[in-house]
Amino acid sequence: MKVAVTGKGGAGKSTISGALSRHLAAQGHEVVAVDGDPNPNLGISLGVARETVESMEPILNALIAVGHTHDDPAPDPEDLLARYGVAAPDGIVLVATGKIERPTDSCLCCGSHMTTRQFFGDLRADDGRIVIADLEAGLNDLLWADPDPDDVVLVVAEPSAKSVEIARRATSLAADLGVKRVLGVANRSAGDDDVARMSEAIGADVVVVPDDPAVEHADHLGRAPFDLDPTSPAMLAIAALATQLLDGA
Ligand SMILES: Nc1ncnc2c1ncn2[C@@H]1O[C@H](COP(=O)(O)OP(=O)(O)O)[C@@H](O)[C@H]1O
Ligand SMILES: [Mg+2]
Repeated sequence: MKVAVTGKGGAGKSTISGALSRHLAAQGHEVVAVDGDPNPNLGISLGVARETVESMEPILNALIAVGHTHDDPAPDPEDLLARYGVAAPDGIVLVATGKIERPTDSCLCCGSHMTTRQFFGDLRADDGRIVIADLEAGLNDLLWADPDPDDVVLVVAEPSAKSVEIARRATSLAADLGVKRVLGVANRSAGDDDVARMSEAIGADVVVVPDDPAVEHADHLGRAPFDLDPTSPAMLAIAALATQLLDGA
């Protein structure tokens, strides 16, 4: 199963991707967590030490460093995972697609999208492996990631009107891409109104993740919310989301 997590910046994509990965991995599933943000920080939400996150070599940066160009044959995704993936808790392997570091001759922006597409598209997801891609904010990366009809798109929004509007567009884009399973996540919901607005935007039921001080507290400490309290309200809601994904609902 491959899951692309999309939504506006600050919607909670990394928080949800990280906690979802942890819940699934803690149940014994093989999980590959792909950080598609050019400012990679999914590692923090997963519970990887900050120094490890900082020292990670993203795929695109590594390929540019060895002179790889678009004209060269695409590298083997399993080889890239073995080379550039780092160990995260519960056996998760974390890999970043690209990081903006300094001006370069190559098109780092487009290159990072291209890398995400190629990696997300080509990475093996059989034998029960679950690939969770925390995409760059906005819709561009979803378009580039080009999920298959059988992949899952998780559209995350917090209650602001802008976040919900981007969720509406992401849902419509995912449908245009032919994706059959699009799940909405009403994150940081504080009441029925928030949930209703998100359901209306997504056009279907949404998974509700409550606004949870424990998540914010973990963020301040630079820790994974799952490590601080796996039974906090938001973490339990994300556990239910994991079950829903596994059940194919
Ligand atoms: N359910 C929640 N309850 C409280 N705070 C949350 C919740 N989800 C996310 N946050 C906080 O919102 C901020 C943005 O979350 P993040 O996952 O980094 O968003 P994104 O990856 O979409 O930019 C972070 O400070 C995070 O701790
Ligand atoms: Mg993020």
